[in-house]
Amino acid sequence: MKVILFNGSPKKNGCTYTALTEIEKQLNAEGIETVIFHAGAATKGCLGCSYCVKNGKCITDDCVNEAAELLDSADAVVFGSPVHYAAASGMMTSFLDRLFYSAGGKLRHKPCAVVASCRRGGSTATLDQLLKYPEFMQMPIVTAQYWTMVHGTTPDEVKKDLEGMQAMRTLGKNMAWLLKCIDAGKKAGVNKPETEEKIKTNFIR
Ligand SMILES: Cc1cc2nc3c(=O)[nH]c(=O)nc-3n(C[C@H](O)[C@H](O)[C@H](O)COP(=O)(O)O)c2cc1C
Repeated sequence: MKVILFNGSPKKNGCTYTALTEIEKQLNAEGIETVIFHAGAATKGCLGCSYCVKNGKCITDDCVNEAAELLDSADAVVFGSPVHYAAASGMMTSFLDRLFYSAGGKLRHKPCAVVASCRRGGSTATLDQLLKYPEFMQMPIVTAQYWTMVHGTTPDEVKKDLEGMQAMRTLGKNMAWLLKCIDAGKKAGVNKPETEEKIKTNFIR
């Protein structure tokens, strides 16, 4: 089983990364393979051109297409972002808009967790924003004993946020438990539910 943890910070080894590594350690201890992917390299937003609808990949050929390929082998994902002005980073927003638009179907029914790293405020607004993506894809949300946030401006400060780090470990344990339950269910013949064909309406019809 494999979990991909996406770091939406422009900093490859900053605070968000530090939180993700705490989750990773717990998953590895439970025998689950992990990859930390630097989503913070996605500097271009969605153009809304629908190239991906016809071609199955984003017209902007960067880390989003690389991530989309990785999703085939993922059993679950974690989306982590620093808080920028009480929201997810611009990179993470660009990354998730484009990943879900071009390859969201690969994530359907796979467990997901979201993580926010901030100095002081805006973390719950960021978590709410990040949750919009998995909610769209029928992904079971994995939680901890507190909202899944850490506080700090440096990795060392994040490590001193003992409650935040504990939440990361709990998240890792809960993710491992859910993955093992899904696997056991599969072996016992419990399959993913069928998705009905999409009905699309708007507000005038
Ligand atoms: C442009 C920008 C905006 C920020 N806005 C906030 C904010 O609204 N609230 C907050 O608590 N911290 C804010 N911060 C601080 C970061 O969220 C915080 O240091 C975070 O842990 C950094 O994670 P990283 O090292 O993974 O990038 C901001 C930082 C930057 C660069």
